[in-house]
Amino acid sequence: MGKQQKLLFHVFLCFSFLLLLSGNTRVNGSSHHHHHHHRHRPLFNFRPSKLFVFGDSYADTGNNRNSLASSWKVPYGITFPGKPAGRFSDGRVLTDFIAKSLGIKSPIPYRWRNVGIEHWKNGMNFAYGGTGVFPTLAPDPNMTTQIDFFQDIIHKKIYSGSDLCSSMALVSVAGNDYSTYATTNGSPQGWQPFIIEVVNQLVTNMKRIHGMGVNKVVVTALQPLGCLPRSTFTSSFQQCNGTENELVGFHNLLLQQAVTKLNNETKDSTFAILDLYKAFMAVFKIQGKTPGSSKFGNPLKPCCTGISTEYGCGSVDANGVKKYVVCDDPETAFFWDTAHPTQEGWRAVYSALLQEQ
Ligand SMILES: *[C@@H]1O[C@H](CO)[C@@H](O)[C@H](O)[C@H]1NC(C)=O
Ligand SMILES: *[C@@H]1O[C@H](CO)[C@@H](O)[C@H](O)[C@H]1NC(C)=O
Ligand SMILES: *[C@@H]1O[C@H](CO)[C@@H](O)[C@H](O)[C@H]1NC(C)=O
Repeated sequence: MGKQQKLLFHVFLCFSFLLLLSGNTRVNGSSHHHHHHHRHRPLFNFRPSKLFVFGDSYADTGNNRNSLASSWKVPYGITFPGKPAGRFSDGRVLTDFIAKSLGIKSPIPYRWRNVGIEHWKNGMNFAYGGTGVFPTLAPDPNMTTQIDFFQDIIHKKIYSGSDLCSSMALVSVAGNDYSTYATTNGSPQGWQPFIIEVVNQLVTNMKRIHGMGVNKVVVTALQPLGCLPRSTFTSSFQQCNGTENELVGFHNLLLQQAVTKLNNETKDSTFAILDLYKAFMAVFKIQGKTPGSSKFGNPLKPCCTGISTEYGCGSVDANGVKKYVVCDDPETAFFWDTAHPTQEGWRAVYSALLQEQ
């Protein structure tokens, strides 16, 4: 086949596959209808066979380096898998809940790719905690480099064109770009131009992933950074920082506009947004800047904290003495540490995402 024919053939395969998928969803939906009256509609009208994941600690399931990351320290992972294993939580994170909703196992972290290609069948997770679209304070691969890793994997020809075509990409990124910008005192031009740069780079990255053959690219709208415990501790976890949330609002607006434009250009709903901002706020039952009564009590108060500001969750001193405290029951807290939800927090966010549908 010539190059043109090959491309057409690929498009045809991809297209027929999608028809088959959407057909299946309908059939399943109607046949199970009576048994699952209370079930929500699925999060996506698409049943991918594989999940490829890019971004930061909300999505990382073990790529981050042992020696540097809190995710490899006790008490991370105490709920699941029972010991520290590279997730920035007491248990499962966003990626795990999304994979489950798609009916596949959480994809293997890129770092463990050599354990055997039989573990590649659910896709692969390239996300690294602490990273952004641009370099951050974490010495780990930014999103561009993560996509480079994906490209290397594709060149190994273990995933076929139709594998990629029936796959979904999940992207969760940008929070660390903004925290890095804030701690390095930004640039004289201020926040707006930087937010525009971040969104532009993010959109370039999403187009690149799509261009590599992945037919569905889902990106998270940024979570309310002003409600993270690291911002709310100044008000004893009573109030979100409105200034920070407004900046997040601008990021999310630009992202929404870009996704609408991309979908208009690709003539189908290739790109989608998973609105973490709305979902977090729904769980907080936020009114203005203050959370309402939630099943988590005060949802802004984290479960695991350093005993003073110089320590964090998982800190120990030179003698190995614990310098943090953990709440009695992580299931009762929304936040695990100063930036990340607990497993139960993520479960609540996931339910809220389903309600948004
Ligand atoms: C990502 O990291 C690589 C390697 O450090 C660097 O060369 C590249 O400029 C970075 N990309 C962006 C968009 O910042
Ligand atoms: C809210 O965040 C901004 C930007 O980080 C900061 O300058 C301001 O002091 C914060 N406000 C409060 C009340 O903490
Ligand atoms: C979609 O694209 C067409 C032209 O390609 C344009 O006329 C239209 O306004 C666009 N719609 C949106 C919602 O951007």
